[in-house]
Amino acid sequence: MTELVNDASRQIWEKDLRHNLHPFTEFPTFKEKGALIIESGEGNNIKDSNGQTYLDAVGGLWCTNIGLGNEEMAETIAKQVKKLAYSSIFTDMSNEPAAELAATIAALTPGDLNRVHFATGGSTAVDSAFRLVHYYQGCQGKPDKIHVIARHQAYHGSTYAAMSLGRKKSDRTSQFHFITDIIHHITGPDIYRAPDGMNEDEYCDYLVKEFEGKIAEIGPEKVGGFIAEPIMGAGGVLVPPKDYLKRIRNICRTHDILYISDEVVTGFGRLGHWFASESVFNIIPDIITSAKGLSSGYLPISATIYSDRIHQVISEGHGNGYFPHGFTYSGHPVCCVAALKNIEIIERENILQNVRDVGQYFGEQLDALKELPLVGDVRGMGLMRCVENVMNKQTRECFPEEIQIGKRISDAAEELGLLVRPVGHLNIMSPGLTLNHTEVDEIVSKLGTAILKVNTELKNEGWNPC
Ligand SMILES: Cc1ncc(COP(=O)(O)O)c(C=O)c1O
Repeated sequence: MTELVNDASRQIWEKDLRHNLHPFTEFPTFKEKGALIIESGEGNNIKDSNGQTYLDAVGGLWCTNIGLGNEEMAETIAKQVKKLAYSSIFTDMSNEPAAELAATIAALTPGDLNRVHFATGGSTAVDSAFRLVHYYQGCQGKPDKIHVIARHQAYHGSTYAAMSLGRKKSDRTSQFHFITDIIHHITGPDIYRAPDGMNEDEYCDYLVKEFEGKIAEIGPEKVGGFIAEPIMGAGGVLVPPKDYLKRIRNICRTHDILYISDEVVTGFGRLGHWFASESVFNIIPDIITSAKGLSSGYLPISATIYSDRIHQVISEGHGNGYFPHGFTYSGHPVCCVAALKNIEIIERENILQNVRDVGQYFGEQLDALKELPLVGDVRGMGLMRCVENVMNKQTRECFPEEIQIGKRISDAAEELGLLVRPVGHLNIMSPGLTLNHTEVDEIVSKLGTAILKVNTELKNEGWNPC
């Protein structure tokens, strides 16, 4: 347990310990240590209830894109709350912010992706996309085309469908049930762990062949959708081999398989563009899911953006005459004004350009960590980066899971006032998009110190990292 300096912070800590079920937090550690209570934040820095500050290189959860404590955003939200705090967009009603935001998003997306379905977060955006695939295929008279192909190691959210589309080993606990009859998985594109002897091109051929094989196995007449992040985030910041996404996209088109690009992390600036699908990877998907950066985490909102072509089918094909799917908070006016303000700020402050500049510098500086012990790989793009820690750099062998190497390094970094996210043996970074060169230097220097500290501890415990 962190030393708590006063009674008030101890009480909060205890209430949290007793009543708050934290997503993904390990029960034994939590029972012993409780949680780090965050009290305030400004820009890319946060302060805990003891007054200690941290440079947050996790960006909340890949989401505090414009930075915390933005006055203009606070005023915009307050003004909308006073004017119209809630209004539904079900059936035949709408509100001004929802209409404005839908049009604004449509203008930023590639190709004919001009239609928007609003929800509350990334998981519900993915769920909406999944259901849209079924609805679309049914409306065009192909009711059997309901199978969806996704990838191992992916994380697409925590609703039933989203968690079933994801396939992180650590999320597949035996107590949960998953949709397995119509969801299938192929290998995630992990270049660092490509089969021995394969170069990037050969690995790409291998992955594409596997995808074609999976379609043939299920039957192309039954496969209705494919989902992938441009760069797999929580799965380990996996940058795909060159042309991989493009080749997969083309195969989807051949078989009338809707391509869902999950841009919940990459959307709204993380790779230096509004969306990464076309701008970075040269593909125009059928559906894009987005959340997080859409409001920079100020309020919960997500958008599933889909093509005019899909809209024509669902609105004019063999459907119900309506799309029976939505949420009480779809098109919430306060969330929509926050998203509109967020987009305005990103544009006005030239934040996409900042990501392109600072992101490149970040990558160059982080690369130096490759020289350190434990560091097997450093990878990523823009402001989405990862360090992969291994026991043996030659063989890429990992430490046993119970060593919790990623967590030990993130704990050591936390003591130095830096937050990085542990995911298994990885440390992931996705800082706010206003990051500057000085903050990059601080992240790299503190992370390097934390890695060296843990390396020394492990050696003292009898391990022999090499
Ligand atoms: C790629 C991707 N999709 C979907 C989600 C789910 O988003 P949310 O947690 O907002 O439901 C996440 C969350 O991290 C994500 O990384």
